[in-house]
Amino acid sequence: MSGCPFFQGKLQLFSKSNQFVEEDGSQKGVNKAANGGIVYGEYLQLDKILNAQVLQSQEKGNKIHDEHLFIVTHQAYELWFKQILWELDSVRDLFIKKHVRDERNMLKVVSRIHRITMIFKLLVDQFSVLETMTALDFFDFREYLSSASGFQSLQFRLLENKIGVADHLRVPYNRQHYRDNFHGQENETLLRLEQEDTLLTLVEQWLERTPGIEKDGFNFWGKLQANIEEGLKMEKCKIQKMEDCAEKLELLDDLNKQVENFTALEEPRFQLPFQLLTALMEIDTLMTKWRYNHVCMVHRMIGSQTGTGGSSGYYYLRSTVSDRYKVFVDLFNVATFLVPSAWVPKLNPNINKFPYMAEYYDSSYHSCSSDESD
Ligand code: HEM
Repeated sequence: MSGCPFFQGKLQLFSKSNQFVEEDGSQKGVNKAANGGIVYGEYLQLDKILNAQVLQSQEKGNKIHDEHLFIVTHQAYELWFKQILWELDSVRDLFIKKHVRDERNMLKVVSRIHRITMIFKLLVDQFSVLETMTALDFFDFREYLSSASGFQSLQFRLLENKIGVADHLRVPYNRQHYRDNFHGQENETLLRLEQEDTLLTLVEQWLERTPGIEKDGFNFWGKLQANIEEGLKMEKCKIQKMEDCAEKLELLDDLNKQVENFTALEEPRFQLPFQLLTALMEIDTLMTKWRYNHVCMVHRMIGSQTGTGGSSGYYYLRSTVSDRYKVFVDLFNVATFLVPSAWVPKLNPNINKFPYMAEYYDSSYHSCSSDESD
């Protein structure tokens, strides 16, 4: 036994705390790892992931500490891009196979789109970890990146395209189409994808099926138009009773603008299942924030130097932080046409069931399985 009173005291403490944990049942488990079956590292194939951080600076005999962070950050982004694509494909599949006819699957769509927004939130914030690297630290290993650039991230392009970034609105890359920077299989993948339905087109098709908007049926928009006209007439009466002043003119002007907006609403198509459409706008907002945070970081790291991928760098990226890249911009603009809720026609009980049950009102509808195939 040790003669050290300090250690003696520690021993007592240790056995006491051991007794305590014995009593609370926290040690009652059985170690299973030794009994065969796959364990943590194998299940996650960590041998591949954790050996994939090859520092080019180290390879060239000049190890720069921060290159490790740079690589891990990019890899983490790519893994999350992969998860977003996974969710996105499943949602597109639900729309393509028309499984959204079933309300349970609609909830699946909403929760997966919501999950995508949560991942994007993380990705927007994740730049702050990389920003702990100074511009000088980055400068020290930048030359080793050679011509490698995030611009060549295939998954990022797949993601933009699957959501529905419009090809003709993209900012050119050194006066070229962005796809020309991808070769072989990657180029073919991108070309093939252009023929597929985007999330945007699928959501549009789904919205167009919304029951209740047909003129000879419930005629939601006809009723709404009538309510609007009536409502505006009353508003105008109220304003005209006011004494002549600048405010009166302003109010009348606003009202006339509102009338113009509503007249422009010729064939409105949306009936909003609130959560889904809000989450789609959130995706647009978060992607814009991603672009913004990225370009701010790039400005800080390389100033106005050209990018390793060959673009003008900051100036090119700055031009992509724009509504040109917003896919669901129409949904944002819907707010222009808001009317007092009292003007909205009351829905009859059948219409109340939409839009999940839209297909049940469709005479061409025969049968469908309620579950997705995965
Ligand atoms: C020090 C950090 C970074 C710098 C200095 C940087 C710099 C740049 C530059 C200059 C470009 C324009 C293309 C070029 O000429 O190379 C670019 C594009 C891009 N970077 Fe980064 N980047 C950094 C971090 C990241 C990270 C962490 C990601 C995450 C995946 C990323 C993803 C992208 C993507 C997707 C593009 C293409 C954007 C577009 O064309 O709209 N970058 N980056």
